[in-house]
This record gives sequence, structure tokens and C-alpha cells, in this order.
Amino acid sequence: MQNSATDDTGPAPVIRHVRASDRDAVLDILNAHHVNLGTQRLPFHSDTEVAARIADAPGRVKLVAEIEGAVAGYAELETWPDKPRLRHGAEIDMIATHPDFRGHGVGRALMAALVDMSDRWLQLTRLQLYVWDGNDAAIRLYERFGFVVEGRLRRFVFVDGTYRDALIMARLTDPIQPPSSA
Ligand SMILES: CC(C)(COP(=O)(O)OP(=O)(O)OC[C@H]1O[C@@H](n2cnc3c(N)ncnc32)[C@H](O)[C@@H]1OP(=O)(O)O)[C@@H](O)C(=O)NCCC(=O)NCCS
Repeated sequence: MQNSATDDTGPAPVIRHVRASDRDAVLDILNAHHVNLGTQRLPFHSDTEVAARIADAPGRVKLVAEIEGAVAGYAELETWPDKPRLRHGAEIDMIATHPDFRGHGVGRALMAALVDMSDRWLQLTRLQLYVWDGNDAAIRLYERFGFVVEGRLRRFVFVDGTYRDALIMARLTDPIQPPSSA
């Protein structure tokens, strides 16, 4: 039975850290129209800009999903290890699937890897992200991983000729504790 938005037939994506040699594939992803619509990226990206983007950076986790050797998706997690009062949290700064591989479980595999890193390795208890209102594929993906909408930022971003609201979504791994009274 196939009742989901996606078609997961075919080989499962393999997750690994991005490499410098992935530059052109990540450039294809960032230049894709559906990625421009869903992110803050502009329609055209240079290879030098993408090379800098995928380079190692403190606190950033940069992953790709591969399907049969092809780079099928890219994701970034931004952590704040140098901010003592924020370091329990992190932000998913990018998740994008190559136009040739949408609907094959790539976004889900990247999200699963970031959530696993967050929960079982980085000691994070709060993951957050911004998503444009109406980006139903992304919102549904995040809800699948336990993210809930915390707020709306009105007319936050200009997308393809119109202003759009942003939603901030987050996933907490432990209950919120009320502040203790002194
Ligand atoms: C959002 C995005 C990453 C999803 O990637 P994908 O590889 O196509 O998604 P998957 O095949 O892994 O599907 C995972 C889940 O995403 C959701 N989803 C994916 N495509 C969907 C669609 N067309 N409609 C509704 N939900 C969809 C579903 O929840 C799906 O799981 P389910 O079928 O079990 O419900 C992809 O559409 C993309 O690159 N969008 C452009 C960039 C972007 O907007 N990123 C988010 C910025 S906040």
C-alpha cells in the first residue's frame, strides 16, 4: 500500500559528512527552484560560495545523503557550543533534496541523522528551525519528527515576488521545567 506523500521504493539514502568534492552537487541543490522557494537562498550561487558553505566550520554539522553514489540531499545543523546559556539548543539551518531525488526518503534520512546527532551525541534538548508558511512538504516532514509550531513571524521573507510569513518550529526532548522560586 502506498499512502504517503513520498515514494520510498529504491535504495535507501546513505548519510555521510559533506566533502569538498561534493561542491558541484550541492551547487545543483542550492540552485534548484524548489530550494530557492523554501530557503533564504537567491536563485544563483557560485561554486566558490558553495565551496565556502560546505567547508568545515566550528559548531556546524554538514551532511549529505547519497543514493547509489549520487549526492541526493544536503543538510546543516548550527550549534552554539560557545554560548553557555544556549548550548543545549541548535538550529536546522538547511535541509534540501536534489530535484532528481525528491520523494525518495532523502529529507527523512537527513532529518533522522540530525535528530540522532542531537539526541544521542550532542546532548541537545532543543532543536529549532524556521520554515515559510505554506511549505507543506517541509512542515509535514518536521511534524513527523516531533517539531511543533511555536510562533509566526509575519511578512518575514520575500519569496518569488511576495512576502511570506515564517513559522518557528521546535522539538524539545524533555519537559519544560518551571523556574524555581527563590
Ligand atoms: C522539504 C524537503 C527537504 C523534503 O525532502 P524529500 O526528500 O522530498 O522528502 P522525503 O521523501 O524524505 O519525505 C519525508 C517526509 O516529508 C514530507 N513530504 C515530502 N514531500 C511531500 C509532499 N509533496 N507533500 C507533503 N509532504 C511531503 C512527508 O512528511 C514525508 O514523509 P511521509 O510521506 O512519511 O509523510 C524537499 O521538498 C526540499 O528540498 N524542499 C526545498 C528546500 C526546503 O524547503 N527546505 C526546508 C527549509 S525550512
